[in-house]
Amino acid sequence: MKQGFLKAAVLISGTGSNLKALIDAIGTTRLDLNIVQVVSNRAEAAGIAHATTAAIPVSVISHADFPDRQSHDAAVAKVLEQSGAELIILAGYMRILSEDFTRHFSGRMINLHPSLLPLYKGLDTYNRVLESGDNETGASIHFVTAGLDSGPVIAQVKLPVLPGDDADSLKARLGPLEHKLLIATVDLFCKREITYRQDAVLFLGEIIKQPLQLKPDGRFI
Ligand code: GAR
Repeated sequence: MKQGFLKAAVLISGTGSNLKALIDAIGTTRLDLNIVQVVSNRAEAAGIAHATTAAIPVSVISHADFPDRQSHDAAVAKVLEQSGAELIILAGYMRILSEDFTRHFSGRMINLHPSLLPLYKGLDTYNRVLESGDNETGASIHFVTAGLDSGPVIAQVKLPVLPGDDADSLKARLGPLEHKLLIATVDLFCKREITYRQDAVLFLGEIIKQPLQLKPDGRFI
């Protein structure tokens, strides 16, 4: 794996297509990132193979092996600290996090979520968008704070909802946009252009009032 400037850890639970997108972006030098650690809470997560192929260290820390959330999170935190990661990227990590864990990584942990936050926190976002009759949806990346899918939103990408859409078609169209959003947002971290302060996002030192919006060319407005 190419040695990038910013050290990151990526946490996954499943397919890991976003992890793969990051690895590919590093491989084509679009991203100056060094993924020093991947953590999965599920041994059967397909995404583990992407890390293994790229020779990235993987820790499987199964939540089923721990008596409670706190002790599982503490084990994950220990691995993350030992890895030297400066940025923690939750890319399909399907766990509710303990307050201790979110506090420990405050300002250096981001999460990708498949909705235009603050709308539709939690699961089953696509069906909830369709049931509400919204004419657009999208994905968000936010700093992780205590509370499910909360924390100041850094960046978003929007997607129109089309007549005849179902959850599968929305998910299929949103996936590639999520990859672009994640790469572009992590790139801002690599350039040290994004920071966190007191529940706010700073872009180039200024508090942003709205999340950055990704344009179709993969850049931010
Ligand atoms: C992505 O769609 C991401 O937005 C979602 O999990 C998927 C992971 O896909 N995350 C959440 O729902 C978090 N609340 P991947 O495993 O193929 O990267």
